[in-house]
Amino acid sequence: MAHKKQRGDDRTIAPDGRPLDEQPKWRLDFPIDLDRDNYVARRDFTKFMVLISGSFVVGQVWIGLDNLFRRAAGKMPVKPVVSLSDLPVGGSMSFRYPKYEHCIIVRPDEQTLVAFNNKCTHLHCPVRPIVEREVFQCPCHSGYFDLRTGRPTKGPPRRALHRITLEVREDMIYATGVEIGAT
Ligand code: FES
Repeated sequence: MAHKKQRGDDRTIAPDGRPLDEQPKWRLDFPIDLDRDNYVARRDFTKFMVLISGSFVVGQVWIGLDNLFRRAAGKMPVKPVVSLSDLPVGGSMSFRYPKYEHCIIVRPDEQTLVAFNNKCTHLHCPVRPIVEREVFQCPCHSGYFDLRTGRPTKGPPRRALHRITLEVREDMIYATGVEIGAT
């Protein structure tokens, strides 16, 4: 039968259940209360479960918000980028666009303007245009994207670059929205 030592509300129960006076001296110096230990273990387990469940909930909310954001991505503000006359054929330049920050506009020929978010869809390194080869190159793992479509053509990336839609009004080029890169 377990031996119990009363200390106010404290109780000490030896793990082997033998009376206190039969216990070795070290056990008297370091008493173990099994009931209390079990209570603490249950409380810790409950905390752990609440933490894990909370993490799942936060994760689900985050995914939901991210999806909302992606759906709303087509309704972006209209921002001036550069005047047409300042972007020569074969030229490119960086610009900022809300939520996508670093973007690149390229004019591969007289009639064509393209713009993409410069984040590689593999691990987010910045890509750079090589206009004469009609590619965007990601130096991190030698990923390549088609310069006109943003689709991956070589290396680890599997998804296209996010395209920034453009409009030309008079001589000014405007960024008007974002099309999320397809697989
Ligand atoms: S980060 Fe671009 S290829 Fe890996």
